[in-house]
Amino acid sequence: MTGIGDRKIRSTHPFDARKINRIEHEFSDHPLLSAQALRELAKRLDSAKTGKVKFIDPNAEAGSDFILGTQPPQGRSIDDIFDNLHEPGSWIAIYEVRSDPEYGPLIDEVIAAGAQLIGQESQTIFDSDAYIFISAPPSLTPFHIDRENNFFLQIQGQKQFSAWDPNDRNTVDELAVEGWIVRGSLADVNWREHHAPRAVVHDDLLPGQGVFMPSTSAHMSRTLPRHDNTDRKAALVSISIGVVYYTALTKRYALIYALNSFLRKLGWAPRPPGDCIQPIESLKYYGGWIATRLLERMGRFHRQRGM
Ligand SMILES: [Fe+2]
Repeated sequence: MTGIGDRKIRSTHPFDARKINRIEHEFSDHPLLSAQALRELAKRLDSAKTGKVKFIDPNAEAGSDFILGTQPPQGRSIDDIFDNLHEPGSWIAIYEVRSDPEYGPLIDEVIAAGAQLIGQESQTIFDSDAYIFISAPPSLTPFHIDRENNFFLQIQGQKQFSAWDPNDRNTVDELAVEGWIVRGSLADVNWREHHAPRAVVHDDLLPGQGVFMPSTSAHMSRTLPRHDNTDRKAALVSISIGVVYYTALTKRYALIYALNSFLRKLGWAPRPPGDCIQPIESLKYYGGWIATRLLERMGRFHRQRGM
């Protein structure tokens, strides 16, 4: 039996924190990630009206808008949904799991296991949290990007998971990334069939497997039936957890994106974060820091998480 702090995350290739990496992990049998524990978690957060239990249209496709509801479809109860998770298109997600005191230590354990891969940058990690996804075929999580770095771990069932390099601006262009990081808008992050061949991971994830994705890596996933499981209902239910975090580097980039968006309004065409020499990058970072805080005080800017 695995004890607290014993579980590891390994990279199947030399790890690069700026790239998509295939990983393996030992969290699949964690008691807090069983369907029963997650049912209790969802009920706790739902009855506290936190808005952190989310539902998606069972007919979502790759190009669908990533719109989540906080009301279960057809007025169903959380228990009813968990009793019938194997039904086609079931999709329930639990957001910002750290808000539940029982789950903080699990998130810290995953971060500690991952920190050994990340190296030096792990010392600047802040605001780590987790998102848990429970779904049945043929449900699909549409194409999107996130602002955090992400250790995405498959816990139960099978998923086809596609991810694109975080710097692939042919798939998601600079303005679309800026729109998401600065304004929280995915309006310009759009799925196109011709993106498919550029996915750097396009594979079937099984329990014990996962993907590390840096901030702004586009991704989407599809739940598949497992053919090697004799329990017909369990074979259909996928459970995954994305443990996410920010670092000094994601913060630096976010503030440069913010400054860039302000400069753009003044008619400039600023270069993306990481594209200038170090003194200019530092100047832009501090400029972004001051501008976001000033505009926020004036009520003209809403600072996104991690900024
Ligand atoms: Fe995501």
